[in-house]
Amino acid sequence: ELGPYSHFMQKEIHEQPKALSDTIEPLLEAGFVPELFGANAKELLSKVDGVLILACGTSYYAGSVARYWLESIASVPCQVEIASEYRYRDAVANPNWLVVTLSQSGETLDTMEALKYAKSLGHDKTLSICNVRESAIPRSSEMVFYTRAGAEIGVASTKAFTTQLLALFALTATLAKIKGRLSDTQEQSYLDALRHLPGSVQHALNLEPQIKIWADRFAPKEHALFLGRGVHYPIALEGALKLKEISYIHAEAYPAGELKHGPLALVDDNMPVVVIAPNDVLLEKVKSNMQEVRARGGELFVFADLDSHFSESEGVHVIRTPRHAGVLSPVVHAVPVQILAYHAALQRGTDVDKPRNLAKSVTVE
Ligand code: F6R
Repeated sequence: ELGPYSHFMQKEIHEQPKALSDTIEPLLEAGFVPELFGANAKELLSKVDGVLILACGTSYYAGSVARYWLESIASVPCQVEIASEYRYRDAVANPNWLVVTLSQSGETLDTMEALKYAKSLGHDKTLSICNVRESAIPRSSEMVFYTRAGAEIGVASTKAFTTQLLALFALTATLAKIKGRLSDTQEQSYLDALRHLPGSVQHALNLEPQIKIWADRFAPKEHALFLGRGVHYPIALEGALKLKEISYIHAEAYPAGELKHGPLALVDDNMPVVVIAPNDVLLEKVKSNMQEVRARGGELFVFADLDSHFSESEGVHVIRTPRHAGVLSPVVHAVPVQILAYHAALQRGTDVDKPRNLAKSVTVE
């Protein structure tokens, strides 16, 4: 069942180009139409003026990427909430907001309960983005988008995450279109970018031998920092989560601008710092944050595309990620951090597919 792979996680990382193209298929056929989200979506989505995303863990990070997209592409305000926090807050409902639950398994108890709570507050426009058909959360939602990642067996989510991102991008573009904020040219260029995405992800997968060399250097460390800014900040969070859950290396992610407000005190020559730094509007800011790290002796491991114009120097290692048209860059950059965590865990000899203390589907509180 594993084919040429050593673990389900590795297999699932490599299945991403297919998982993405399968998930993209209906979009390429239909364009960004509300019907992608169900027969009743046209009516329900037409009244939406904000989005509340509820999720746990990796799914929460997918939601955190979507916030940047919804605000910048659709001009729709968005709030992303950790389900286990939201369900116990005295949250203020706005029935014109769409509630989106993100859950790979569709069975996560806290996400399910957060959805019930939102409904009890008067939210009746609910959308589930899920990878498992007919699971509990989609069954309790008015609208559904199924990602087509196929079964994910490794406890650490990989292909479910990147396909969730696609679903969220489709939602963003669809809302933008409903609101008259998406020109035909823009729609075509997004569809083109989607069409090329599996190829870019394949290029990222081809970086595995280089990333493995980095992972070998990481394996003896006990701590690591991950930095990103803007839409790549949630990818830094996801990289840190992947590393800690499967290799048990303590990892933290920060928006790079926060460094000087505390975490910079941790940086010394024993602290590897991973930076997600493709060319985007915040790149120059990220570069100056990196200098702050370098000045304290921190070793930098930088994922950067060609347009970021980084060169290697002492203490600064660079892996060139594929250039990928703007907005979908977080999807491409999720892949190298998955590979880094996987190989660091392999080196440390941990149980990659079944990390200690964790379960694939969290159906208890
Ligand atoms: C981490 C991971 C978890 C899940 C979380 C939510 O790699 O997989 O953080 O993302 O338990 O699970 P779902 O998406 O099934 O609700």
